[in-house]
Amino acid sequence: MVDFARFAMFSPVDRRGSADFQSAMAIMTRLTFVSSAGERYDLDVANGTTAMENAVRHSVPGIEAECGGACACATCHVYVDPEWTAAVGEPEAMEEDMLDFAWEAKPTSRLSCQIKMRPELDGLVLHVPARQA
Ligand code: FES
Repeated sequence: MVDFARFAMFSPVDRRGSADFQSAMAIMTRLTFVSSAGERYDLDVANGTTAMENAVRHSVPGIEAECGGACACATCHVYVDPEWTAAVGEPEAMEEDMLDFAWEAKPTSRLSCQIKMRPELDGLVLHVPARQA
């Protein structure tokens, strides 16, 4: 496991050569949220975290996540960019049911708390709706 606290103590030059830096880069994935106004939020996120957790951590506007990721509120609704729908996959039955409560759901709708980041999703783009339910 990477010790991020120790990792942050090194200067940028020192970090590049360290084993911790190499290890950290191997578990990081790029994730972009695009607001309804077109603003981009480019994030480097840890694999195993959810897209919603990263949106909240980085204060991405429009992701409310009222239930904290329990798949019980639909206020973390996003539209998966069309180029990424196959890689992200289909929602499970419980998420599908909850999407009925999302504001202006579309075929590309997902709940961002149910999208777990992994290396295959490196570069994933998620669009934030103009409002949540
Ligand atoms: S945070 Fe509530 S459904 Fe995703």
